[in-house]
Amino acid sequence: MKILQVCAEMYPLLKTGGLADVSGALPLALARQGAEVRVLLPGFPAILKALDISGEVVALHSFAGDLRVLYGTTAEGIGVYVIDAPHLYARDGNPYQDGHAQPYPDNHLRFALLGWVAARLAEGIDRLWRPDLVHAHDWHAALAPAYIAASANPVRTVFTIHNLAYQGVFPASDYAALELPADYYDVNGLEFYGQLSFMKAGIYFADRVTTVSPTYAREITGSEQGCGLDGLLRDRGAILSGILNGVDDAVWNPACDALISATYSSDKMSGKAKCKAALQQQFGLQQNADAPLFAVVSRLTEQKGLHLVLHTLHEIISRGGQFVLLGSGDAAMESEFKQAAANHPEQIAVRIGYDEAFSHQIMAASDVIMVPSRFEPCGLTQLYGLKYGALPLVRRVGGLSDTVVDCSLENLQEGIATGALFDGFSEEELTRGIRRMFALWARTKEWKAVRKTAMSCDFGWQPAAEKYMQLYRGLGT
Ligand code: ADP
Ligand code: GLC
Repeated sequence: MKILQVCAEMYPLLKTGGLADVSGALPLALARQGAEVRVLLPGFPAILKALDISGEVVALHSFAGDLRVLYGTTAEGIGVYVIDAPHLYARDGNPYQDGHAQPYPDNHLRFALLGWVAARLAEGIDRLWRPDLVHAHDWHAALAPAYIAASANPVRTVFTIHNLAYQGVFPASDYAALELPADYYDVNGLEFYGQLSFMKAGIYFADRVTTVSPTYAREITGSEQGCGLDGLLRDRGAILSGILNGVDDAVWNPACDALISATYSSDKMSGKAKCKAALQQQFGLQQNADAPLFAVVSRLTEQKGLHLVLHTLHEIISRGGQFVLLGSGDAAMESEFKQAAANHPEQIAVRIGYDEAFSHQIMAASDVIMVPSRFEPCGLTQLYGLKYGALPLVRRVGGLSDTVVDCSLENLQEGIATGALFDGFSEEELTRGIRRMFALWARTKEWKAVRKTAMSCDFGWQPAAEKYMQLYRGLGT
């Protein structure tokens, strides 16, 4: 079975969020299931630099100008097609927006091209390898099913929604440039309230639609989380499903993680204490093993609910806890967190920026990972927290509620608790969650038991890969 994955980023070549973790791990997991997987990516400078390019597959002329399709392999041995079109992709910094956080004005062309090249590969422009199925991820790749539907010999398609809130919506006037059939611009197509929506194209034209957790798959069929597409998602309910993401054990594993100060496992936890001491020292936090260390590793956006954390920091530090944050995004939030650290340097540490190594060190050092999201399609940091023995304190929403088991008395009794959940999106509810974490921390034996259960959770990629394989087979591939 030959599968082409289409996406905008892929770990370790280029990563801005969880999408890259998924597109990095899924091909390897599918390959272990016997699939032949290749990936198609835009030629962002970081991707071209990190790939071992073996040559040019074909040169093409497109609506977005001339381009070359190159082929290379990742260090892990996954084959990657990359679209070399410097006039579209060779821009410094973020792949989606400029230095002032403004989307590039030609994003419709930059990402339509990704879908268009996927369709050409599906038609066989590489004479040596032609996919049986194309699997596109998020709005950046969402025109692939539309271009494929419009092609002479369409192959089957799967579209995965990683985040319905980012839709790739552009003015209707951009449509003509994309060279899609005129009648696709319709309410039964990719028209969305008088504009053109890449996300809607993926949902409408794909043979199967998935999202990254079962709960989020249900939530997006309701108006609260449907982002205007809930009606279509309800209509497509029979082909919509949720497949939970996994954790790449080769990248996230405290027993052999080269990025952390000391390795450890649930049977031998002394390394975690060393990691905590090292982080406290590095950041000038009080050297205190008994202070529970709360952590956040996140994009600082509206989705993640971090203003709730800002407003409950006093609850953590007044009870003798500590807090560390690694994140970047919203400028106002960045400066408020920095100010909090300046006011309480021995208890609050904040690093603004994106730092892969430091994200591992925080997971290893901390006792609690906080994810109070407004919505969360899957969420990966709570999964990393479980694995590294940082108990998740999360809102009961999306993938968070599918992956964390609350430390209620019954769950403690049964030995299945792994963290704490709260319901309402409010400071009061988060505060209650923080208090519950302190209450558990005070019961050292129980804390350790919960931590052991958390660390033994199996959120590997194989179960997810098996489900994707079933889905692909169900489409006759
Ligand atoms: P999302 O994709 O919505 O941002 P996820 O929890 O699925 O949320 O994935 C976030 C990924 O990005 C995780 O791998 C997390 O460790 C990483 N990450 C987020 N912010 C940072 C940062 N500032 N530095 C390093 N890694 C980060
Ligand atoms: C998105 C979601 C996140 C999910 C990730 C990978 O960025 O916000 O919840 O874990 O995609 O699927």
